[in-house]
Amino acid sequence: LENQMPREEGIDHSISLLKEGYHFILNRSRKFQSNIFETRILGKKAICMIGEEAAAVFYDPAKFQRQGAAPNRIVQTLFGKNSVQTLDDDDHKQRKEMIMSVMTPEQLDSLMEMTKLQWEQSLDKWSQMDNIVFYEEVKELLCKVAFKWVGYPLHENDVKKMTKELASMFETPAAIGPSHWIGRTYRNLAEKKIQELIQNMREHKVKFPINTVLHQFAFHKDKEGNLLDVETVTVEVLNMLRPIVAISIYINFSLLALHQFPKQKEKLKAFKDYPKMFVQEVRRYYPFFPFVAAKVKQDFTWNGYQFKEGTLTLLDLYGTNHDPNKWEKPGEFYPERFAQWQGSPFSFIPQGGGDYYLGHRCAGEQITIELMKISLDFLVNRMEYELPEQNLNFNLDDIPSIPESKIILEKIVRSR
Ligand code: HEM
Repeated sequence: LENQMPREEGIDHSISLLKEGYHFILNRSRKFQSNIFETRILGKKAICMIGEEAAAVFYDPAKFQRQGAAPNRIVQTLFGKNSVQTLDDDDHKQRKEMIMSVMTPEQLDSLMEMTKLQWEQSLDKWSQMDNIVFYEEVKELLCKVAFKWVGYPLHENDVKKMTKELASMFETPAAIGPSHWIGRTYRNLAEKKIQELIQNMREHKVKFPINTVLHQFAFHKDKEGNLLDVETVTVEVLNMLRPIVAISIYINFSLLALHQFPKQKEKLKAFKDYPKMFVQEVRRYYPFFPFVAAKVKQDFTWNGYQFKEGTLTLLDLYGTNHDPNKWEKPGEFYPERFAQWQGSPFSFIPQGGGDYYLGHRCAGEQITIELMKISLDFLVNRMEYELPEQNLNFNLDDIPSIPESKIILEKIVRSR
């Protein structure tokens, strides 16, 4: 039995997608009263889907592939060429294993220690200042941590520049025009520096500790015993550096949540399990990664709908985390909803769904949660601050969405 998928008329809706941002798929899904519909993006037919059931299909590697799915502009800024995000099947499996191999408990512990130390140092610095722009400061904080963790401590003079280069990769992918080109240029600059470093490591011109991401990736051998080419190693090292800096978006939203929902602070201080629930709710409630894209691998039918080979398909991550069929009062910030949560690989997917090893689910999800918890502890228990009058609005039309003022803090002192 075949169903006709609800279809949006018109030649192309790419501009609306960029303009409506996080609401593009949700708006249409509501209008059509359907968790699936057809539209046109980048001049071609595209399918958009929302929800747990749709996510389970989207993450079935027999049905969808990544190769050729992401628009060039995203590859050129966010992912990098030939990155793990663009691979399928065995190529993906091998690359993902290399990436997951640095996520050992020891390496996570050392990342967490570095983060705590850097928070202490930043807090000392902020206590001497009249005010700070929290988002900008946290990006720098995380940039230092990220470089140290991958095994290449940054010189203090390079921190600002490097932070800018890495941040532009996740701040500009959806931009049209000049800002997008800035993102591209900064990726090229960052890639060049790291390529040189890896080359020098391989030629033993510089020495690096062995239990570091840089060393592990630079000397990783594939099944045939070959080293990866320098460009690919670089792209994957950046795949660690860039998103660690991007956690600043969520840490910024954590602070905003504490401000918007003042009762949360007492609960965070009172209940041991509350920080984890709070962090999960920040990742569910606030927008960050809007959707993921894949292509239909071969013709199949799902719920009576036909999927034709090669069709671009978008899975709405933000929409799935706000799906009223799954979440009670999705528009409310309510961390307690995670107290009874059983876990599901497909309903709560701020960082993608499915399995870390078998699919494309975010390799850094655990890192994200842990670094958010550490930062929340500082915000709640270790420092005091005030927010002066400012515009804290964030716009769901912008990808990524960041509070207008980037959150100005003043009167920062250590808690007694
Ligand atoms: C993939 C989100 C942090 C490394 C992804 C995907 C999303 C995502 C949506 C794509 C899932 C898919 O294609 O189906 C986020 C968000 C983060 C974050 C919102 C919060 C800041 C991190 C961190 C790291 C990381 C901290 C590493 C240190 C990766 C890698 C992939 C990925 C390597 C590609 C996985 C693959 O294609 O198999 N992330 N991520 N991410 N993320 Fe993250």
